Amino acid sequence: MKNKISRRQFLQVAGASAAALLLASCSGNSASSVSSSSVASSEAASSAAASSEATSTVTTTGKTLVVYFSATGTTQGVAQTIADTVGADLFEVVPSDPYTSDDLNWTNNDSRVSREHNDEGLRAVALENTDVDGWDDYDTVFIGYPIWWGIAAWPMSSFVAANDFSGKNVVPFCTSLSSGIGQSGKLLAELADAGTWLDGQRFSHSSSEADIASWVNSLNL
Ligand SMILES: Cc1cc2nc3c(=O)[nH]c(=O)nc-3n(C[C@H](O)[C@H](O)[C@H](O)COP(=O)(O)O)c2cc1C
Repeated sequence: MKNKISRRQFLQVAGASAAALLLASCSGNSASSVSSSSVASSEAASSAAASSEATSTVTTTGKTLVVYFSATGTTQGVAQTIADTVGADLFEVVPSDPYTSDDLNWTNNDSRVSREHNDEGLRAVALENTDVDGWDDYDTVFIGYPIWWGIAAWPMSSFVAANDFSGKNVVPFCTSLSSGIGQSGKLLAELADAGTWLDGQRFSHSSSEADIASWVNSLNL
């Protein structure tokens, strides 16, 4: 747990978190380039060096946890379906200062998300809770998030930075309007610097429960 403590302290004390520093390297959009039509196209901003930690198979029959952040409910729905499919526990990542619809307006250059996107130092958002009961007992952890400007919504980075993934199989998943999962899972794997991370899966707003269950079952957990 040494990593867990030092990362959390770093997040709380230093202000500019490891997550922010990492994301700084993958975000090149200027404030003036952000618009509703360009938000998906900045997916290329996440082209930071890929981690070699991603693998294609999971071998576990132990306990499973689904951790998710969802600003408007889409990722939450996918997380619930995954949990129902494998009989997993759920943990919601909740920012201490929750995002309002005004905060999420990416067409407004001065909205909260736009300011956080344009200034990596603002992305280390504090969370209500990063401690999962019985964390050490979970062998497999699904990590779900919306795509924001081509990368994982940064509240999930705060969660990943605060926890120790050593010895765990980690399965990223995301929802988006049109972007693929891109490098988002690999960037989180680099941030965690522990665990065996799969490539992950992206779902759209129209993905069905059957689509989600089919993917989960294909993992052979
Ligand atoms: C700030 C912000 C940035 C977004 N950036 C992208 C993007 O780059 N590509 C994309 O396809 N969708 C993008 N979206 C849409 C969300 O990824 C999509 O609606 C997602 O399913 C929302 O998940 P949620 O309801 O769990 O919050 C963005 C949404 C927001 C609020």
